[in-house]
Amino acid sequence: MNDVRSYVPPFKLGEAMDGGAVGYVVASEAEGFAPGDAVLHGLGWREYATLDARRAVKVDPAAAPLSAYLGVLGMTGLTAYAGLLAVGGLKEGDKVFVSGAAGAVGGMVGQIAKLKGASLVVGSAGSAEKVAKLVDAYGYDAAFNYKDGPVAEQLAQAAPDGIDLYFDNVGGDHLEAAIGALTVHGRAVLCGAIAQYNETTAPAAPRNLALAIGKRLRLEGMLVGDHAALQPQFVAEVSGWLKSGELRSEETVVDGFERTADAFLDLLRGVNTGKMVVRLDG
Ligand SMILES: NC(=O)c1ccc[n+]([C@@H]2O[C@H](COP(=O)([O-])OP(=O)(O)OC[C@H]3O[C@@H](n4cnc5c(N)ncnc54)[C@H](OP(=O)(O)O)[C@@H]3O)[C@@H](O)[C@H]2O)c1
Repeated sequence: MNDVRSYVPPFKLGEAMDGGAVGYVVASEAEGFAPGDAVLHGLGWREYATLDARRAVKVDPAAAPLSAYLGVLGMTGLTAYAGLLAVGGLKEGDKVFVSGAAGAVGGMVGQIAKLKGASLVVGSAGSAEKVAKLVDAYGYDAAFNYKDGPVAEQLAQAAPDGIDLYFDNVGGDHLEAAIGALTVHGRAVLCGAIAQYNETTAPAAPRNLALAIGKRLRLEGMLVGDHAALQPQFVAEVSGWLKSGELRSEETVVDGFERTADAFLDLLRGVNTGKMVVRLDG
C-alpha cells in the first residue's frame, strides 16, 4: 500500500481503497449487464461502485456461493493452483512445505499437493487451533505453530529427510528454514512475504541464500495475473474436487461494511482461517 516500488501502485490518501468484490448490478448502461446480475470486480471497500463493463466479470450465483468467486474459485484459488503446479512444478512423490498454511492460499496449496500425489505435506500456522485443523481437516501430514519455536527446528522434525518444494506465503525466517531444508534441485515458489509487510526495516532473513548455489535451488517469484490461461483448467478441476468433497474451502466472514478495516487488520494478525470476507447487507 505504501509508496514503494511493488507490483501494486501505491494507495493514495483520501481515495477509496480497492480490492476484490462480488455483488449485484443495481443499474447498467452496458450491453450484457442488467440489474440483478452478479458480477466480480476490483472495486471493493465501498458499498457501491461505478465501473466500466470491461472491468466486471459476470459470475453465476447458482453454480457456487458468490464469495467462492473471491476465494476458492477466484484469485486466491488460482494463486494456489498455478503457484503449486505451473510455477512449482509439483511432481508425484514430492515432499512439500507450505507457510501461511491455514490461510486462503495456503489451505488450498496443501490440499492440492496431497490430491496431486505429494508424499509429505507439512504446514506452518500461527495457532494450535490452526495446526490441528491442518492435520485433521485439510489432510496435511504434519503441521506446527511457528510461534512455538524456531521454524528451522520444527521443520526438521516434521520433514527429517528435507523438502523438495516450498510454497512461501511468509518470507523471513520461514524462507530461511526452507532454503536450509530443500533438497538438491529443490524449488521454492515465492508467492508472498507477509512477515515483512508491516516491517519498517529490512528483513534479517534469509541469511543462507548462498546455499542455493550448491543445492542448485530454483526460487521463483509468481504473480497470479500471469496465469489467466490456466483459468478454465483450474475452475474445472477445483470445482470437481469441491463437488466430490475432496477439497475443503473455508472462509472467515465479518459482517458489516464498517468492520472492513478491522477485518483487514485481523487478517494481518492471523485471526482468519481461509479467505477473509466482509459481507455487506447479509
Ligand atoms: N503472488 C500473488 O499473485 C499472490 C496472490 C494472492 C496472495 N498472495 C500472497 O499470498 C499470501 C497469502 O495470502 P492469503 O490471501 O491466503 O492470506 P491469508 O493467508 O488468508 O491471511 C494472512 C495470514 O498470514 C498469517 N500471518 C500474518 N502475519 C504473519 C507473520 N508475521 N508470520 C507468519 N504468518 C503470518 C496469518 O496466519 P497465522 O495465524 O498462521 O499467522 C494470517 O491469517 C500473502 O502473503 C499474500 O500477499 C500473493
